[in-house]
Amino acid sequence: MLIRRYAVDEVNAAELLAWLKPYEDYVYRQVGDGNFEGKHSGLKKMISANGVHSFGDDLVEKMVLLIKEELHHFQQVLEIMQSRGIAYANVSAGRYARGMRHVRTYEPQALIDKLICGAYIEARSCERFARIAPYLDNELQKFYISLLRSEARHFEDYLALARQVANEDISARVYYFGEVEAALISTPDTDFKFHSGNPIEEAATAMS
Ligand SMILES: [Fe+2]
Repeated sequence: MLIRRYAVDEVNAAELLAWLKPYEDYVYRQVGDGNFEGKHSGLKKMISANGVHSFGDDLVEKMVLLIKEELHHFQQVLEIMQSRGIAYANVSAGRYARGMRHVRTYEPQALIDKLICGAYIEARSCERFARIAPYLDNELQKFYISLLRSEARHFEDYLALARQVANEDISARVYYFGEVEAALISTPDTDFKFHSGNPIEEAATAMS
């Protein structure tokens, strides 16, 4: 979404969507067998920035790499699920990402805020993978640690881009979203998910 909104022309945006289609088909339309071998290579060569913003090239480069890594993780998760006989099913979104949307409505502040939110989501994933890994079996432990290594890079990428776009100190805004995010992960939450808040009793019981 960031690439399409801020950094490429219509042709490149269409390329990007076409490249993602097999994944969307699988997730939203139950089309395909979940094998995306070879589907996440070559994108970097296909997508180029439109030259409108000075940060466009960096945004495309960092986000394409990030998409590729996330999709590779998705494939890895599917493989582990398949090997354990767990069927793929869609899970409804929790309040977390929605709750982070205190994004300003004018540019470039809107983009800066979206990037800061992205950084928090990645950093929190990194923390939660680290906290859960010791309680998992060997295979999952190794996998989660590999995931948290890339999440650590992803959150740095988002923050670096936010600073680059702002071209001024963004610490007040980072602090602001830190407060919003802290409330989302530490207050009672009826849902129980990777990024949810404190599970209330019924939610935790329903999961077990
Ligand atoms: Fe990530």
